Amino acid sequence: DIHPLLLCGGSGTRLWPLSRKSYPKQFTKLTGEESLFQASARRLSGPGFAAPAIITGSDFRFVVTEQLAAVETAAAATLIEPEGRNTAPAILATALELHARAPGVLMLVAPSDHVIPDAQAFRDAVMAAVPAAEAGQIVTFGIRPDRAETGYGWLALSDAPGADFAPVPQVLDGFVEKPDAATAESLLAGGMHLWNAGIFLFSTDTILAAFERHQPAMMAAVTRAVDEAEQDLHFLRLAPEPWADCADISIDYAVMEKAANLTVVPYGGAWSDLGGWDAVWRESGPDADGIVTSGPATAIDCAGTLLRAEDEQQALVGIGLEDIIAVAMPDAVLVAHRSRAQDVKQAVEALKARG
Ligand code: GDD
Ligand code: MG
Repeated sequence: DIHPLLLCGGSGTRLWPLSRKSYPKQFTKLTGEESLFQASARRLSGPGFAAPAIITGSDFRFVVTEQLAAVETAAAATLIEPEGRNTAPAILATALELHARAPGVLMLVAPSDHVIPDAQAFRDAVMAAVPAAEAGQIVTFGIRPDRAETGYGWLALSDAPGADFAPVPQVLDGFVEKPDAATAESLLAGGMHLWNAGIFLFSTDTILAAFERHQPAMMAAVTRAVDEAEQDLHFLRLAPEPWADCADISIDYAVMEKAANLTVVPYGGAWSDLGGWDAVWRESGPDADGIVTSGPATAIDCAGTLLRAEDEQQALVGIGLEDIIAVAMPDAVLVAHRSRAQDVKQAVEALKARG
């Protein structure tokens, strides 16, 4: 079986005011009836999948447990980080724990905040990746790029993907995490790169060997954090002191940019990172005028606009708006131009500075 790991960290500041430090975006119902986290757990379940492992912060341990129970799932392991140190230590800690229980199992690392509507097609792509992972490869999943995105990793293909973009594994020529704008433009124009979906399949043997080789100091610190972890109910609390010694670095920089045993499986279905309100607008199915409303919100003569009223008691009305994002919460209101959606994180910084 494949053991999924759902990463539940990060505060999603670009989706303020809905996403808060106290309630990050993966637990909110952004585009559907379920939270993104619940949809992710459901997507990676069924034949061929073991119960998921979770790694998250202490504040979210009961949210995780409750949201999983609501989709009839219980985690196989729930690791608690003393503090967020980015994805490399989080993935390493879980790999060590799963490897101790069953050496060499296959692990599928997945963010819990992505939108992938066609779950079956996605599971098919994962299954297509299994032989490569069993042969010692780190398998990435590649998305066809449609803009020069600097917020993603880019995967260098060795062969052009087939016309049908079928999930056929191929050797990866290189991995470029978050290129600058000029580099992203040239990767897009060259046509031989895909976006990294941020989802990885490998055996615990393979990833532990990669950490040993490329991040020996982190390997030592995280091994101690797991060895000295404390069981608290069904939560495994990693030891704070060795954890604090870990570099704060993502798996992309820590391992992927350095490893040589990389494979990519193209994924042709819809995929979104929901990295901001512009993506939420796009993924929520705008009507013919480009309008998305939710809650008691009304758009009059608007275009390309998202109006979200989160409080049933508080109406939100937009008139004559073009390309505007408006999100009204009981204690905070965001109004922004849609082209500036990525700057919402600056608002969070500004509010923090005001105290
Ligand atoms: N538990 C835990 N602890 N989870 C974390 C932590 C942490 O310290 N930091 C991040 N995560 C989780 C996030 O919640 C998210 O689900 C996932 O790990 C990825 O982190 P992001 O911070 O969203 O990464 P990114 O979007 O900038 O970049 C990654 O994803 C892109 C695709 O969405 C990279 O893998 C890119 O290469 C990739 O293109
Ligand atoms: Mg992300």
